[in-house]
Amino acid sequence: MAIEDEEITGPSNSGRNEPAVDFLPKTASAYGDPRYWSFSDSIYFRFTAEEHYEWLKEYSHFQHLILPNICPEHSILELGCGNSQLSEDLHGEGVIDVTCIDLSAIAVQRMRQRLKEKGIKVIQADMLDLPFESESFDIVIEKGTMDVLYVDSGDPWNPRSDTVSKVMQMLTGVHKVLKPDGIFISISFGQPHFRRQLFEAPCFTWSVEWKTFGEGFHYFVYTLKKGRRSCESKYPSIDDACVVPGMSLIHDELDDEDFIFRVDI
Ligand SMILES: C[S@@+](CC[C@H](N)C(=O)[O-])C[C@H]1O[C@@H](n2cnc3c(N)ncnc32)[C@H](O)[C@@H]1O
Repeated sequence: MAIEDEEITGPSNSGRNEPAVDFLPKTASAYGDPRYWSFSDSIYFRFTAEEHYEWLKEYSHFQHLILPNICPEHSILELGCGNSQLSEDLHGEGVIDVTCIDLSAIAVQRMRQRLKEKGIKVIQADMLDLPFESESFDIVIEKGTMDVLYVDSGDPWNPRSDTVSKVMQMLTGVHKVLKPDGIFISISFGQPHFRRQLFEAPCFTWSVEWKTFGEGFHYFVYTLKKGRRSCESKYPSIDDACVVPGMSLIHDELDDEDFIFRVDI
């Protein structure tokens, strides 16, 4: 789908983080389907009508966890920006070289309009096939975008092979476009038991650390530093890991709409 820089007019949403019910897919598993984000009528309407929606949490909640790794001179790539303010928040910290990608043509078109005065680049691209040279960025960051790949992933201790293959495809691309000492920051609701398995795959040279934020329900900021892997993971393999009780979340525990209900965390 071609992207033009023409003006789009559409109804604006009534408030932040209050998605209209019309935006919601019929089933949450749609969030795991790339066609939902690129071609569905509901996402077209959503990104046309909605100025801003912040998945998981806003910047102020995790700013203190990511800023120690970010300098104004850094080049930053954000994966799956949607209509989040994260890129503007990073720009507000003095980072000039910010690039965002998203699969959705309409989200990209609207974000281009919104961000052009700040010089933030917005590109339509698939995070599973990043259109950048090796070692292009100091920082790659994503919030709630990798989680999309885990929708309907089956048993979290033993995710379906297509989930594993997509996540590994994404991580391999991220690892490639990071500079030799670059950092991947992943902001997620996925618990470390279920993210470390793939983050710590032997093909990656990055170290893996994480911190939590949020009250009641905890979110995670994973920090993966390329070239800093010190030793093989001591974390048990899927087969060795002890089984923890599944989490049962009720909607009231969370702020708003989330595909979290469909993701095995
Ligand atoms: C859950 S939303 C998160 C949006 C934003 N990061 C935030 O925190 O508010 C997922 C976003 O990822 C985009 N997306 C989904 N699959 C993608 C892919 N394969 N490549 C690039 N973007 C993708 C969607 O269009 C959507 O904007």
